[in-house]
Amino acid sequence: MRPFVTLKLATSLDGRIATAAGESRWITGAAARAEVHRLRAAHDAILVGAETALADDPELTARTDPAPATQPLRIVLDSRLRLSPTSRLARTVGLGPVLVLGATDADPARAAALEAAGVAVARVSRTPHGVDLPAALAHLSGTAGVRRLFVEGGGHVAASFLTLDAVDALEWFRAPMVLGGAGRPAIAALPEGPLAAAPRFARRSVEAVGPDLWERYERER
Ligand SMILES: NC(=O)c1ccc[n+]([C@@H]2O[C@H](COP(=O)([O-])OP(=O)(O)OC[C@H]3O[C@@H](n4cnc5c(N)ncnc54)[C@H](OP(=O)(O)O)[C@@H]3O)[C@@H](O)[C@H]2O)c1
Repeated sequence: MRPFVTLKLATSLDGRIATAAGESRWITGAAARAEVHRLRAAHDAILVGAETALADDPELTARTDPAPATQPLRIVLDSRLRLSPTSRLARTVGLGPVLVLGATDADPARAAALEAAGVAVARVSRTPHGVDLPAALAHLSGTAGVRRLFVEGGGHVAASFLTLDAVDALEWFRAPMVLGGAGRPAIAALPEGPLAAAPRFARRSVEAVGPDLWERYERER
């Protein structure tokens, strides 16, 4: 059992989520970002990778009007527990819970510092890419009771979910700009395979949101 997983991407026309230096604010416009807040509010939990948490210092709350009755659980995949106890996530635990999924071999002192800041820490086994994703998803659907998970990147986390064939829907916001090949790819490398094995999605809708395009897809299995 795993949660229903929606992967959200905010990209340039050429599928980049940040400049080579990691700058990503903002690729899409205010209207698209407002839709993302509504999507966040419709999920039990929001998940990002450690690099996104460190580069962007995001809050990851659902800022809708009116505000949601409860904030989704905010999750960071962070095998080494690099998230700072003074990060925006840690400083806003009063708004809603934050969970860091680290590896079993992560420094206990880092776990203690996060827990002292009010951040929950859970540990699963380590893999070459970070934490073991099936184990992390089992923890989320079991102990944490997450049924609908909203994954907001970055590219390495997106690739891990796709490699596991654990992306059920895509919310793809595409801005009318080009970042070029040195920009960070929306999806990092996937295991090599024939074209026929590439994951395919069925488009459910396309909508203009301000200057951007919002494409919604579901996995074809
Ligand atoms: N435009 C957008 O929509 C958008 C959205 C998000 C991010 N971004 C941008 O994307 C950039 C960061 O993306 P990124 O691809 O470099 O990093 P990322 O996917 O955010 O984070 C990758 C890191 O997460 C940790 N991790 C733990 N378990 C993992 C697993 N099973 N699979 C994958 N990662 C795991 C690893 O660090 P440890 O080894 O330390 O655990 C890994 O290095 C930033 O510049 C950010 O601004 C843009």
